Amino acid sequence: MKERLESLQQEALLKVEEAQDSKALQEVRVAYLGKKGPITEVLRGMGKLSAEERPLIGQMANDVRAAITEKLEQKEQELQEKEIEAQLASESIDVTLPGRPVQLGASHPLTNIVEQVEDIFIGMGFEVEEGPEVETDYYNFEALNLPKDHPARDMQDSFYFTNELLLRTQTSPVQARTMEKYQGKGPLKIICPGKVFRRDDDDATHSHQFMQIEGLYVDENVRMSDLKGVLELFAKKMFGEDRNIRLRPSFFPFTEPSVEVDVSCGICKGQGCRICKHTGWIEILGAGMVHPRVLEMSGFDSKKYSGFAFGMGVERLAMLKHDIDDIRHFYTNDLRFLQQFRRA
Ligand code: PHE
Repeated sequence: MKERLESLQQEALLKVEEAQDSKALQEVRVAYLGKKGPITEVLRGMGKLSAEERPLIGQMANDVRAAITEKLEQKEQELQEKEIEAQLASESIDVTLPGRPVQLGASHPLTNIVEQVEDIFIGMGFEVEEGPEVETDYYNFEALNLPKDHPARDMQDSFYFTNELLLRTQTSPVQARTMEKYQGKGPLKIICPGKVFRRDDDDATHSHQFMQIEGLYVDENVRMSDLKGVLELFAKKMFGEDRNIRLRPSFFPFTEPSVEVDVSCGICKGQGCRICKHTGWIEILGAGMVHPRVLEMSGFDSKKYSGFAFGMGVERLAMLKHDIDDIRHFYTNDLRFLQQFRRA
């Protein structure tokens, strides 16, 4: 029995030494120290031994078990350390490698213009409103003094879904919507940027979808001179202090009187050049005093209140400001175009 234990110990220690990973080590542990292992077997057979031998063999079996256990633990620690080292080596990060540059996006040139215009008008006490792009015939036309058979509807060829529903052709419906919201009580001072849609053939200066910014100011005693002052300040902030504006009589069904507003040409300083078609002036927006009937239809007393409204094309502002010669550049997403408008 003594020899058997001795050879078991030698055998086990050798197997432990040979184990290559923790799985192999676990197998050795089960094989020698498990319930069905040879050492347990020796201890079970002790009943057959003499009274003198029993404590000696018992002691020896315990020593063998302790020796194997100790070796197992030592080996396990060794293997674990090796495994961690291998993992660290395979996952090493070279911190000296150059990083991959991240391509930063930038806001669209039209967004930049909208934000600039918003900033200027917010500075004058205006609030920013929104309205739906799918609009009813009522708000897009009728509430703006354009009844169903009005010839001026031809000024804006429209995309209709049904007889009563269309893609808005202008941001002006937001005038009526906002006045309704204020329930006949001024003052009301808003601008509204947004997409509009018209059945135009696309070319260098036309797009079936474009952007407008609407403005509306309704209060007691609002006068044409207020309109002129606000737009002059806007033109100077937007295009430069040296710019002037002029008002030309025009027609819109929802304003009376109506005007078209020109800004002095920045290229020739008003002297006349190719850009301004030798007039010294460039048209930037339509405007006028809100028609009394429009005020009344949206619940404002036209004897007490008056107001002005204006509408400008965002693409047109951007094209003037940045010397862009084709409106389609805004929609074709050529990075060579867009990257020029990165803000610092
Ligand atoms: N809605 C007009 C257009 O699209 C512009 C405009 C707005 C004119 C407000 C007067 C007042 O042409």
